[in-house]
Amino acid sequence: MDQTDEVVWMVRGAWVSLCLRAMCELGIVDVLDEPRDLQELAELTASDQATLARLLRVLVDLGLLSVEDGGFAATPRGEVLRVGHPSGVRNLALMQTVMPNLTAWQHLSDAVRQGKAVFEDLHGMTSWDWLAAHPEDEVVFNAAMARRGALQVAAIRAAHDFSGARLLVDVGGGEGAMLVGLLSDEPGLRGIVADRAPVAAAATTALAAAGMGERAHGEQADFFTEVPTGGDVYLLSNVLHDWDDAAATTILRTVHAAMRSDARLLLVENVLDAPGRTAPQRRDLHLVDLHMLVMFGARERTKAEYDSLLVEAGFAPSRLSPSPNIWNVLASQPVS
Ligand SMILES: C[S@@+](CC[C@H](N)C(=O)[O-])C[C@H]1O[C@@H](n2cnc3c(N)ncnc32)[C@H](O)[C@@H]1O
Repeated sequence: MDQTDEVVWMVRGAWVSLCLRAMCELGIVDVLDEPRDLQELAELTASDQATLARLLRVLVDLGLLSVEDGGFAATPRGEVLRVGHPSGVRNLALMQTVMPNLTAWQHLSDAVRQGKAVFEDLHGMTSWDWLAAHPEDEVVFNAAMARRGALQVAAIRAAHDFSGARLLVDVGGGEGAMLVGLLSDEPGLRGIVADRAPVAAAATTALAAAGMGERAHGEQADFFTEVPTGGDVYLLSNVLHDWDDAAATTILRTVHAAMRSDARLLLVENVLDAPGRTAPQRRDLHLVDLHMLVMFGARERTKAEYDSLLVEAGFAPSRLSPSPNIWNVLASQPVS
């Protein structure tokens, strides 16, 4: 491809992600448990046959489907978008192409000029209030967050020894995917997910469904005012990157106020300058940083930037542990 063709391909990027959305909404991969011809696929996805053929052609071009003996089959790449695939990327595809998020991205230049979020100005409410008012979007958002649980748990385990800990408080813990993972190997550990009311309720349900109902539950909390006390370890995973420095410091202060002096704080984030990130991983993180900008007026941060927030809120500068994957764990403790 010459330079112009490469740039044209980038220009079409939004169309590509919307093709993936349509593929997920129609459930194309989900009915391809075996190769199927066009007519069968049209019937199973309740689609207009001739029009479906045009979408399928693009999905073949993208390497998501292949054509075998006149029938369509899902490639390993296409399988990634199947309902129930362990990557959970289907939920990401649906979350990131939801209309209010796309509209916020359309105003990226305004966000850059003003140095602040555009979501709230455009939609008259914060993204969190949007989710509360649109339960179907909340379900997809929580599932998109939970998809990262296993990798985050592996990074946390590599960074922290939970032996001796009895209560883990996951502040802004979503549906509790990390608690399920962390508690499963620590029979003596109990857990609380402290999150917004609908998310805390979803966490209680998910934890019970995972057989953890006796040991863990969700509790409604606003991390700007109060979170549960008594924890030996407090987790803030992918929370601070949703907030600007002032709000992030307030969240840390709220957690600090709930902590005993011997309790530990673990921040789980993608630290901008953590070693070992590949060029594609950096590119992805830099795009997520812009997503934090348009959605929340927030940002990804370097270790020094996280430490500055921690110290401001009364914590020690953090220790960054080597990570087995893209997730970084910054361990700290109260000093004042
Ligand atoms: C980006 S998600 C991270 C979820 C999970 N910790 C993870 O790592 O996947 C941020 C979480 O913060 C929660 N949250 C937002 N505002 C909150 C508030 N004021 N009090 C408590 N939780 C809040 C959201 O509901 C959401 O679950």
